[in-house]
Amino acid sequence: MTHFLRVLNLIVLALTATIQAHVLRVRDTNPNQVVDSSKHYTHLTRTVRPGLDFEIYHPPSTFEVFDEKTTQRLAAFVDFDWNLEEETVSFVQSHLSVGRSEIGFTSGYTSESSMYGYVKQIHDGIPFINAVANVAWKDSTVVSFGSSFVQPNKIAPSKPTLDVNTAISKAEEILQGQFDGFTPSLGYLARPDGSANLVYIIQIRIEDTVDLAHGWFETFVDAHTGEVLSLTDFVAEAIVYNVIPFSKVAPPDGFELVSDPQDLEASPGGWHNGTGAEVMTKGNNVMAFCNGNLTSLSIPSTPRTPRSSASNSTVEFNYRYQPLLGPSISTNIDAGRVNGFYIANSVHDFFYRYGFTEVAFNFQDDNFGKGGQGGDAVRLSVQDSSRGVNNAFFETGPDGQPGSCLMSLWNYANPSRDASLENDILIHELTHGLTNRMIGGGTARCLQTTEARGLGEGWSDAVASWALQSTPEVRDFVMGTWVFDNPAGVRTYPYSTSNKTNPLLYSNLQGTSDRYLIGQVWANTLHNVYASLVSAYGYDKDAKKNPDGIEGNVKFLRLLIDSLALQPCNPTMVEARTAWILADKNRYGGVNSCLLWKTFASKGLGVSATKAVYVDNFNVPEGC
Ligand SMILES: *[C@@H]1O[C@H](CO)[C@@H](O)[C@H](O)[C@H]1NC(C)=O
Ligand SMILES: *[C@@H]1O[C@H](CO)[C@@H](O)[C@H](O)[C@H]1NC(C)=O
Ligand SMILES: *[C@@H]1O[C@H](CO)[C@@H](O)[C@H](O)[C@H]1NC(C)=O
Ligand SMILES: *[C@@H]1O[C@H](CO)[C@@H](O)[C@H](O)[C@H]1NC(C)=O
Ligand SMILES: [Zn+2]
Repeated sequence: MTHFLRVLNLIVLALTATIQAHVLRVRDTNPNQVVDSSKHYTHLTRTVRPGLDFEIYHPPSTFEVFDEKTTQRLAAFVDFDWNLEEETVSFVQSHLSVGRSEIGFTSGYTSESSMYGYVKQIHDGIPFINAVANVAWKDSTVVSFGSSFVQPNKIAPSKPTLDVNTAISKAEEILQGQFDGFTPSLGYLARPDGSANLVYIIQIRIEDTVDLAHGWFETFVDAHTGEVLSLTDFVAEAIVYNVIPFSKVAPPDGFELVSDPQDLEASPGGWHNGTGAEVMTKGNNVMAFCNGNLTSLSIPSTPRTPRSSASNSTVEFNYRYQPLLGPSISTNIDAGRVNGFYIANSVHDFFYRYGFTEVAFNFQDDNFGKGGQGGDAVRLSVQDSSRGVNNAFFETGPDGQPGSCLMSLWNYANPSRDASLENDILIHELTHGLTNRMIGGGTARCLQTTEARGLGEGWSDAVASWALQSTPEVRDFVMGTWVFDNPAGVRTYPYSTSNKTNPLLYSNLQGTSDRYLIGQVWANTLHNVYASLVSAYGYDKDAKKNPDGIEGNVKFLRLLIDSLALQPCNPTMVEARTAWILADKNRYGGVNSCLLWKTFASKGLGVSATKAVYVDNFNVPEGC
């Protein structure tokens, strides 16, 4: 470490000249929705207590990543210590063309591989609260720069006209809490209208045993008018679920306590509607209830206990599944609702990352002004008896109408087993929602013919397998082993790269109208496509959050989901294959074309395979 620092004793001269930057996270926005969707990453509403909401504003930020290869290294080794603070401030000064007196160093540190400097904007010696910047360095060159510095159109005088005690009383009165004695300071607050207000920063604690309201806030009180403009909530509320973690299959693999699994990129408001004790298995993406009764939701297992002021609060859905007792005991119903809620939200989030968004007709109550129809979160009914036993269903209506996921009890084992505790069954059902919505543009009318419905079953098994392949080695995959109480699962063969283990070919569609058999041909073909891509490009264990990865499992899901939007209404298997080849051309420039053709051809879906003529063709295009 010391050695590393000594090597870095260099001066960086003129960095700006040849740096090539690109901005990350450019969102696909509907031009008509620009205002709302931009608001979505600059604004949030914080409820302090019922009826008291604050709109909190963060100025838009930029994030630039500098490509090391194109970064000019005008560095000369010199014999004095490179100074993170000076270098960071001087970089920001030149990069944003601001004066030295407009930048203050906040903090910085060195990790094993990089150094990080954090600065804030200053006016008249007073720091901004929400206009900040950060610089990351590697080998004395800047590798990234994030900034929310502002150029206010109007800036309040830097001498307060309101005294601090009046400001404290205002904050106590509005929040109905107590000033905690921490010395107030002055700051500038960038406002959504482009102005900057001078504020007192005043800490307030709320310990209200009547309403059970608790909190610790840093309030920003206008130092000229006394208005409480905004606040910071110091208390993080973690939500903990006792579930079968996403990469595992069923209760025998073990439950775990999972904390805050929500992906805020995909679910910006979190998974739940409400906070604290109002948090139930209900939110913007999913509501999970028992046997068709929409009000029978799970509530937290432990009441939210009044906290000592500085501790975090936790909401727990910690119900211990009792395998030897029947499904109808309340803790087992809760275990099913909580696991179903967790899996259905996790599926929402990773589908979202891979393109099943509001504009692509996904399932959400609130679409945050980003397009598509809202009002259609998934309704997940655990232990659903409306269709008997030993099954599971997903009913997809058009965009704007809720999807229903019905999980039956299975009675092959004693006591019966709840399908909402088997992750592959849940993922299979939820994938029906994806395919029914994405093929045909949100109408839910385009997987109706026998072959198309068979493809739907195939995609559902293939996505379940994708989600549960948790290691770089591609393993055979078997559906439904736990609910069926049989290691052979509910399909005819395991999905496998061995044609001894799974001999299915395109020609197996000849003479069958069994959509599950058709589905197995397609799912096994896709299992082989998955294996080819993973063998060529490796495996990323974080693929669910990283659709931009280069690994084979990432590419597989990208192409699967991209292909859905391309194919015709009521596709055939040959057309579904063609859509994969086209999806690869669109997304990856066709570099995987031969790999895909070879794999499809190995299952009889070669170039001369013909739709509605179920004869195998093993040919690949010329040049492959
Ligand atoms: C969530 O809460 C908001 C505000 O209380 C309400 O308008 C909305 O309908 C709720 N959504 C669900 C799914 O309960
Ligand atoms: C639905 O569930 C709620 C909450 O558990 C319960 O109070 C109500 O009686 C149930 N309704 C029916 C029809 O069972
Ligand atoms: C609050 O939560 C954060 C993030 O989970 C954690 O780092 C911190 O230690 C917690 N603080 C307390 C007092 O428990
Ligand atoms: C099984 O795979 C092997 C090797 O990939 C191949 O030679 C053979 O023809 C295949 N058999 C069938 C029935 O597809
Ligand atoms: Zn199905």
